[in-house]
Amino acid sequence: MALDLFSPVSLGSIALKNRMVMAPLTRNRAGEGGVPQAINAAYYEQRATAGLIITEATPISTMAHGYPALPGIYTDAQVAGWLKVTDAVHAKGGKIILQLWHVGRISHPSLLPNGALPVAPSAIKPEGKAFTYKGLVDYVEPRALEVSELSGIVADFVHATKYSLAAGFDGVEIHAANGYLLDQFLRDGSNKRTDNYGGSFENRARLLLEVTKAVVAVAGSDKVGIRISPVNPFNDMHDSNPQALFNYVVDELNQFNLAYLHAVEGGIHGGGIADPFDFDALRKHFKGAYVANLGYDKVRGNAAIASGHADAIAFGVPFIANPDLVQRYKADAALNEADSKTFYGGSEKGYTDYPFLNA
Ligand code: PHB
Repeated sequence: MALDLFSPVSLGSIALKNRMVMAPLTRNRAGEGGVPQAINAAYYEQRATAGLIITEATPISTMAHGYPALPGIYTDAQVAGWLKVTDAVHAKGGKIILQLWHVGRISHPSLLPNGALPVAPSAIKPEGKAFTYKGLVDYVEPRALEVSELSGIVADFVHATKYSLAAGFDGVEIHAANGYLLDQFLRDGSNKRTDNYGGSFENRARLLLEVTKAVVAVAGSDKVGIRISPVNPFNDMHDSNPQALFNYVVDELNQFNLAYLHAVEGGIHGGGIADPFDFDALRKHFKGAYVANLGYDKVRGNAAIASGHADAIAFGVPFIANPDLVQRYKADAALNEADSKTFYGGSEKGYTDYPFLNA
């Protein structure tokens, strides 16, 4: 029988009972101090029938925050909160990994310690508005990181990886997508550096590869995935030659034998694709498992798996509104509609109250 969304698969050493991955989804419902609460555990537990859950993007340090009410993965209290999440998911037979996040310039002094300026590869203010506790405000011009500070960023990723493992996660995903710090280094619209971290593909990929090497040394390559978004314009991102850049990045990532490569195959938040891009060609550069994301449904997901384009499919909005998405796809049942007004912030409404098929 041909492979489909319901076929088991292993991503590195992580054995999935099916190929339906819950995509990382920012929900802004963590407790004080970035500590996950019982309601967060309930939300993830409800979705444990996914082959794999990737947590919402999770700041690796106090400087990595860029939105209200995010959970973190750098304090002991956060580890204790996440342990309740991983225990609940594991008790239901699920697998869950944490997405390691540094937002870089997509932040605001009001979200950072002592009103610090956000950090970035270059001092370039992004277009658009920051989400703060006081609503939407203009982004500020970030501070360009000194070369001497970059080992500290790598160290923060390492610390967060250790804390993720202590919190019971089955692995970690390095967030190198969607216009946040590592992506800001990769793409030349946001990286104008003239040192070893700017200019050539080799230089722009250097920080990502240093982070990957360090995270792999802690977690083991078979527990580490990476997410990229080569042509996503969200967060004021652009690159002059994305296909060549990301083919190069993927070629370099091959040296690590990662659990998987996860690609956002377009522009999120309805942003469209700014540049033409051949994701099949990108996929062929990568020697390991490939997780495809963005706008997939059952039919397109099954087709991508049957054709060999993808080994698994990450679903975002469908998993927000359908905790039992796997069962619904199996039964060809109708889906609940997602309420975008409750995506970011609030409590159980639009979070843990979407109905199950057999409720
Ligand atoms: C968002 O909050 O809109 C968001 C967060 C993380 C992402 C993408 C989007 O990777």
